[in-house]
Parts: sequence; C-alpha cells; structure tokens
Amino acid sequence: MVTRAGAGAAVAATAVVALLSAALALYGPPLDSVLERAFSLRKVHSVKDMENTLQLVRNIIPPLSSTKHKGQDGRIGVVGGCQEYTGAPYFAAISALKVGADLSHVFCASAAAPVIKAYSPELIVHPVLDSPNAVHEVEKWLPRLHALVVGPGLGRDDALLRNVQGILEASKARDIPVVIDADGLWLVAQQPALIQGYQKAVLTPNHMEFSRLYDAVLRGPVDSDDRHGSVLRLSRALGNVTVVQKGERDILSNGQQVLVCSQEGSSRRCGGQGDLLSGSLGVLVHWALLAGPEKTNGSSPLLVAAFGACSLTRQCNHQAFQKHGRSTTTSDMIAEVGAAFSKLFET
Ligand SMILES: *[C@@H]1O[C@H](CO)[C@@H](O)[C@H](O)[C@H]1NC(C)=O
Ligand SMILES: *[C@@H]1O[C@H](CO)[C@@H](O)[C@H](O)[C@H]1NC(C)=O
Repeated sequence: MVTRAGAGAAVAATAVVALLSAALALYGPPLDSVLERAFSLRKVHSVKDMENTLQLVRNIIPPLSSTKHKGQDGRIGVVGGCQEYTGAPYFAAISALKVGADLSHVFCASAAAPVIKAYSPELIVHPVLDSPNAVHEVEKWLPRLHALVVGPGLGRDDALLRNVQGILEASKARDIPVVIDADGLWLVAQQPALIQGYQKAVLTPNHMEFSRLYDAVLRGPVDSDDRHGSVLRLSRALGNVTVVQKGERDILSNGQQVLVCSQEGSSRRCGGQGDLLSGSLGVLVHWALLAGPEKTNGSSPLLVAAFGACSLTRQCNHQAFQKHGRSTTTSDMIAEVGAAFSKLFET
C-alpha cells in the first residue's frame, strides 16, 4: 500500500522529470554533448595555436655564441626567502640558471641566506631583505639585473613586505621586468596600484591566488565557467598587465590576446613547481624583450615568454613523471630542464 508521504514523493518526482524534460526542450541538445563539442573544438584550436606559439618562443631564444661575455644571456634576481621558506627561492633561482641565465642572485632575509647558500654554490645570495636598508641594498644591484622574480618563499611578514614594496617601486622606476608569484601576489592583492599599468609585469597566480587578486581588483567572485574571460578581465582591470593563471591548462592574457597552454604534463602536482615556472619566466622575459616584437610576430613578448615558461614547466613535469611516477618532486623536474628545453625549443 502506498502511504500518503510516498505518494507525495512520487508526484514530486514526476514533476521534476517533467520540468527537466521541459528544460531540455527549451535548451536544445543535452548539456553533455554541447560541452563535449565546445571542448573538442577548443582543443583543436589550441593545438594549432600551441605549435605557432612555440615557434615564436624558439624565435626569442638567443643563439649560444663564444663571442658573448658572461652576463649577456641574463642576470636574474629572485626576491624571496625567509626563515620558514628557503626551498622556493632556491628552486626559482636554480631554474633560471638551468634555462640559460648566466647569473642568478637571491635577495633573501638573513636567516635564509646560509641555508640557500648551502643548497648550491651556483647562486649569489644576498642576506638583505630584512635589513633596514633592504631597498637600497637591492637597488644597488638593479642596474646589473635584467629581470626580477618577486615572491618565492617571501612569507607575509609586514617588514619584509614593506621592503618588497620599495623594491618593486625601484624596479618600475628603472623599467626592469618583474615576474610576481606566491606571497608577492598577496602583496599585490593588498595594493594593486603597485603594478597597475606596469607593462613589464607578469603575474603567475594559482587558483587561490587568482581568486584573491580578482576579488581585490574587480570586487566580485570569479566566474568559474569562464576562465578565459576571467583572466582577460583581470588583465584589463590591471591595465593590461600580463596574467598567467596556472591550472590543469594554463590560461594567459595581456588584456588583448588569450593563450591556452595545454602542453602535456602529468597528474602529479608537487610543491615548488610554480618556482620552476617563475624562475624560467624571469629568463624568458628578458630574452623576449631583447628579441623585440619582430621576433614575436606582433604578439606581446611577455605573453610569448610566459607561454614558453608554461610549456617548459609542463614538459619537465611530464618527463620527470615518466621516470619517477608518484614520487616526482620539483628537484626531479629541475633535473629535466635541459632535455625538456631541447625537445621543445631546439628541434
Ligand atoms: C604570424 O602572424 C600572421 C598574421 O597574423 C599569421 O598568419 C601567422 O600564422 C603568424 N605566424 C606564427 C608563427 O605565429
Ligand atoms: C588594454 O587593451 C585593450 C584591448 O586592446 C584596450 O582596449 C585598452 O585600452 C588597453 N588598456 C590599457 C590601460 O592600455
């Protein structure tokens, strides 16, 4: 026997089915097939774009030559590293070297310096970021640096962040390109004016960092169904600053173009991967600006550089995963930089 409650539920269920059918009739084919079509179209589109854009990246890479002197292929500074975080600035700085920079500096808090030096004899480490003269100490080096990577392992100490603000202002005054990641992005979310309209800035937010920035600048939540549009809108709202949203696919925009990087990586995400991206981007930004817009076929040099760094990071991830599977770490990825670089850019 059917109870009254049971009968009520049956009527309700029938009503729901009827409503759903009506909705399907109104909106045409089932949502699944629409999504599938949109997705495969976009995929075809992006594969073609990817090949073209990789060609542009190849164009900006300076040839190796015995007539150049040390430093010409890039002197990069990483601003970050504090008592708690020493791995991130190391990963960023060593990645810059492995990609092809001649010199890599780290400007960190004094407690982090001996640790970072002990990781590697290849880096120049300045224990200045928590000094009262931090801005001046870094500024002295700016004329000799081609690009800064700001944020890896920075932390959120107020005094450090105030110094980093001064360093960003000094870099802008000298027209030095800056790549901003991690807690550098936290600073930018507090004070978007710091990089507003600065054409030589590239921001590399992950999902969380992107939402925080978007909310700070556009005063509203991200439309998660429209990642392309969201990245484009944030870039425009910041005065066409280049934005790289890292994710399952990386979405890049300079307020004019939107690029998608879906170079095959792996399902393995390890902490530190973003530092490989920001460090290599520091070098590629320098190379792209040096090469100029003829070499990038009219596309923004910063966008091409960012596409190169995303592709490289994903290729490193792919190669490391082939060897190490689930145990893949950022150090394994960094060991792949040379081979990944040749495969993508020197074939
Ligand atoms: C260069 O730009 C032209 C015109 O926009 C385009 O047709 C061509 O495919 C581009 N080449 C590359 C390598 O992107
Ligand atoms: C950013 O780019 C868009 C598209 O080209 C343009 O309409 C807008 O004026 C630019 N904004 C700035 C601040 O340059």
